[in-house]
Amino acid sequence: MTDCLVFYLNERRFEIKNPDPSRLLIDFLRSKEVGLTGTKLSCGEGGCGACAVVLTRLEKHTGTLRHVAINACLRPLCSIDGMVVTTIEGIGNTRTGLDPIQARIADMNGSQCGFCTPGMVMNVVSL
Ligand code: FES
Repeated sequence: MTDCLVFYLNERRFEIKNPDPSRLLIDFLRSKEVGLTGTKLSCGEGGCGACAVVLTRLEKHTGTLRHVAINACLRPLCSIDGMVVTTIEGIGNTRTGLDPIQARIADMNGSQCGFCTPGMVMNVVSL
């Protein structure tokens, strides 16, 4: 047990002393201190997927990395200790180059208003 939460977010290391156990990952991502507003908050109850991000963790019994899409609106920040979070900002953008999934959706007009598209992209990325 420790009072320090350590994780990586889009390749940046975070250490948070005495984290608030009630704080959700979505609130941390979209906070002024982090500013990753590409992950959207819509239903806030795990029903729409607009808040999906990729969580990567080491599977100790196999020694392999496991990537899963999670709903950031349901996930307590304290539960990601030792893990890696990747948001839509972490996979590509129009300045540095789009991820192939982002590019395909853009090329094929695959979104409507686009609000939930980041969540859709991150769900596919996790696969
Ligand atoms: Fe709808 Fe998280 S905001 S599932």
